[in-house]
Amino acid sequence: MVARGGHLRYYRCRFIEGLESVQTLGQLDMLRTAVAQLTQDGSRLALVPTMGALHEGHIALVREAARHADHVAVSIFVNPTQFGPNEDLNAYPRQMAADSAMLEAEGVALLWAPSVQVMYPQGFASSIAVEGVSAGFCGAARPGHFDGVATVVCKLFHQVLPHVALFGEKDWQQLAVIRAMARDLDLTRPHMTDIVGMPTVRESDGLAMSSRNRYLSAEQRMAAVALPNGMQNAIAQIEAGTSPARALGNLREALKAAGFDRVDYAALADADTLEPLDELETRPARLLVAARIGGTRLIDNMPVNNPAK
Ligand code: PAF
Repeated sequence: MVARGGHLRYYRCRFIEGLESVQTLGQLDMLRTAVAQLTQDGSRLALVPTMGALHEGHIALVREAARHADHVAVSIFVNPTQFGPNEDLNAYPRQMAADSAMLEAEGVALLWAPSVQVMYPQGFASSIAVEGVSAGFCGAARPGHFDGVATVVCKLFHQVLPHVALFGEKDWQQLAVIRAMARDLDLTRPHMTDIVGMPTVRESDGLAMSSRNRYLSAEQRMAAVALPNGMQNAIAQIEAGTSPARALGNLREALKAAGFDRVDYAALADADTLEPLDELETRPARLLVAARIGGTRLIDNMPVNNPAK
């Protein structure tokens, strides 16, 4: 069902005869034909955009997607424009055969895995910058990252034309950027796509599932649990009245003591605008953290409630 080779890319649609494998040239046309055929009877199509290296968190997204639509499409594209020059683009795990088998077992209708040339043909010169919500946190630590995410997600929406798209809340800032981009560029329903955020799927010890967890050595993996544990402690402190500055200082110290090398940020922020908060207010708040252990950067976020509300 899945073709490989020099220019061949993976594309499979179980419902459509003759569209089992596609060459790079014309791939987008064939995707559009497949999408048109899947939706011509009024069926709803859900899209789960991914960079592959699928884990249980992605599968939870696929299953949730099936509750929102008649057919589920998954995209796998390791997007070079969202990686900085010193980041892990080349090392990013790629396992198309295993991913494809997992998606097939989930009954996914369509796997869209364009090549870099299809996504960014010669002369490609456009970029989407979502100001404000992109600026802090991962945007500050990874300049240009969210421009790359917004641009590729906008392209994926236009390519697949889904009725609904699902993203994990683990990348909370990414979800906020995508929502803002879709709102600003009129990509959301009734014009186009509903965006659904899915709560973070965690390992049994609380570590958020991530394709990057596989970079961790056994020792680092054990230490990594200090991230969700430390966040829960900080949230309990803030909710009990400790100042966020103090609770976040305690969290930084706990992470360093556990073996983390660097904390990129640990902050309380408005859950929607991501504006940093010095204290709990009535609006929904989120604790956002990115920290590095060895060469691996882990991110996580959790809600913080205002008990006075
Ligand atoms: O979250 C991801 O896997 C990626 O950032 C996304 C949304 C697929 C865009 O490349």
